Order: sequence, then structure tokens, then C-alpha cells
Amino acid sequence: MKKRFNVLVTRRLHRSALDELVKKCNVSLHTGKIPIPKKNLINKIKDVDGVICHPYDTIDKEVISNAKNLKAISTFSVGFDHIDINFAKSKKIKIGYTPEVLTNATAELTIGLILDVLRRISEGDRIIRNKKWNQIFGAYDYTGTEVAGKTIGIIGMGRIGKEVAKKATGLGMNVIYHNRRPVSKNTENMLKTKYVSENILYEKSDVISLHLPYNKDTHHLINSKKFKKMKETSFLINTSRGKIVNEKQLITALKKKQIQGAGMDVYESEPIKKDSSLLKLENVVLAPHVGSSTNETRQKMSDITVRNLVLALEGKKLLYSV
Ligand code: DGY
Repeated sequence: MKKRFNVLVTRRLHRSALDELVKKCNVSLHTGKIPIPKKNLINKIKDVDGVICHPYDTIDKEVISNAKNLKAISTFSVGFDHIDINFAKSKKIKIGYTPEVLTNATAELTIGLILDVLRRISEGDRIIRNKKWNQIFGAYDYTGTEVAGKTIGIIGMGRIGKEVAKKATGLGMNVIYHNRRPVSKNTENMLKTKYVSENILYEKSDVISLHLPYNKDTHHLINSKKFKKMKETSFLINTSRGKIVNEKQLITALKKKQIQGAGMDVYESEPIKKDSSLLKLENVVLAPHVGSSTNETRQKMSDITVRNLVLALEGKKLLYSV
């Protein structure tokens, strides 16, 4: 009889995906407090062969060291900054993740935030709900910024950056980008985009959109020095990871009108702190980390997360391996 693997799942996945997992594994599903408290995680991961984790589960050295049988980690995310990848690899643990399927969803949300903050949609929603829409707006009142004809500067031209470039072109925006290395000329032509230095990007962009992984090199990449280089009329959009932006300095830049506004899906602390100054700023649109949150994408993420784990445990090639 084939060996059944023991696996830990740190929170609920789609039923169909869990059913697949149960066919091959003994599943321990955490249903309590989210994210699973570290003490419980350490306790539950001790004897399992594999774990399905989520971006808010910190799989660090301490956790991995406690997991003596662990052969595979499968994360329900494209980001893997919550996992100590080098340490896991040194223990020969395979790591799966879910890129590609969330590219469109995240790019859509990015475009949504751009339209929202430039055209002041959520701000208007607040005005109406707070019963403050007292007069019909005239020529100068409640004007936003037109999106078409503006320049978007994309930092990080990976899968999501490219999809944002495509969609932004469709809105009539000019697209420039900065990346560790320029993409091929073919891709640049196809996306109608041009590589520029980081400084030129800050200088020229009306909208700056971040599409980078979080690591020690991108920690607080966007800080007060960078805000000083941006146009006073520019907007910052972040759908990547919160810690790429120094949030305190962003708040200062917004208050001092060094930039005009921001659209954010990610924060230095999530859920966002209840007393965050961001909540008091009208020129900021805030989404609760929902870049990949569509029914379509989340179902695919569940399926891939399970497939990755089972393939890894069976010693086969993962669909997507870090
Ligand atoms: C990811 O997949 O990394 C997203 O940020 C998700 O939650």
C-alpha cells in the first residue's frame, strides 16, 4: 500500500482542493486563531511530512528546525518572504508557490487603485455616505486627475509588472519601467514600454507602481529620499509588499504634499494598525491586501498549492517551485 503523508494545513482551502489532498494525505487542518499562533505551529509541524502555509505564517529557522520530518512547504501565495528559503533549502525541503495564476487579478487591482485614487472614487463614496454631498459640483469642484496621457513608471518588470504595463497602455498611459535588468527589446516593443534609470523614473512618472518581491534589498526602497525625487503631482501605488515602502515617511510625504496621493493594498503591518495616520488621509485609497482575491484566482491557488505539496512529497517535479 502507498504511504500516506502527514500534512498540516494552516487555514481552510477550497473544499475541492482539500478533498484532493485527503486522497493522499492525513490532513491536520488548523481552524483556530488566524494566523496560527507560532506556538501551535511549532507544535503541529513537529511530525508532519509537509505543510501548506499562507503569507502570514512565518516559517523561520525556529519553525523549520522543529520540523524534523518536513520534506515540503507549499505556500498559498506568489510571495515567499515569510519563509526562510535558504534555511529550508539547506534542509533539502522543497518549496512550492503559486505564481502566474494571480498575475491578472493583481494587475487588475493595481489598475483599480490607479483609477480610484486619481479620480477620487472612494473619497466621493465617503462624501456621499457621510451625507456631505450638499451641492452639485461645478467647474472647479471635486476634480480628479485624468489617467489617459499620464506616465506610469513601473518598478519591477516581472509577470505582474508586464500585465500592468499592458493594461495601462489600454488606458492610454505612457509606460516606462525600471528593473534590475531591462527586459528584451521584443518585450519592450510589445508592451510599448521603455527602460529608464530609477532616478529618471521618479522624475518623469505621474504614477509609480511597485511590483517587486520583498527582501533585504527592497526593504524601504521607497523612502523620504525617493519621495523628494517624485513629482508633487504624482501618485504611488503599492500592491507588492508593505515593507518595500517606509510607511512613516510615506505619511509625511502625503501630508507635506511631496506627492499627491497613494493607492495601497499592502502595509508594513497587516491588518493595518487601527490608529494608522493613513486612515485619516483623504488622498489615499486603502485596500485590505486583496490583490489575488478573486473567486477564479483563489480557486486556482488552492488547487496549485495542493498539487505542489503532493508532487513534492511524491518526489516529483512541482508545478511551481521556488
Ligand atoms: C501573494 O500571493 O503573495 C499575495 O500577496 C497574497 O496574498
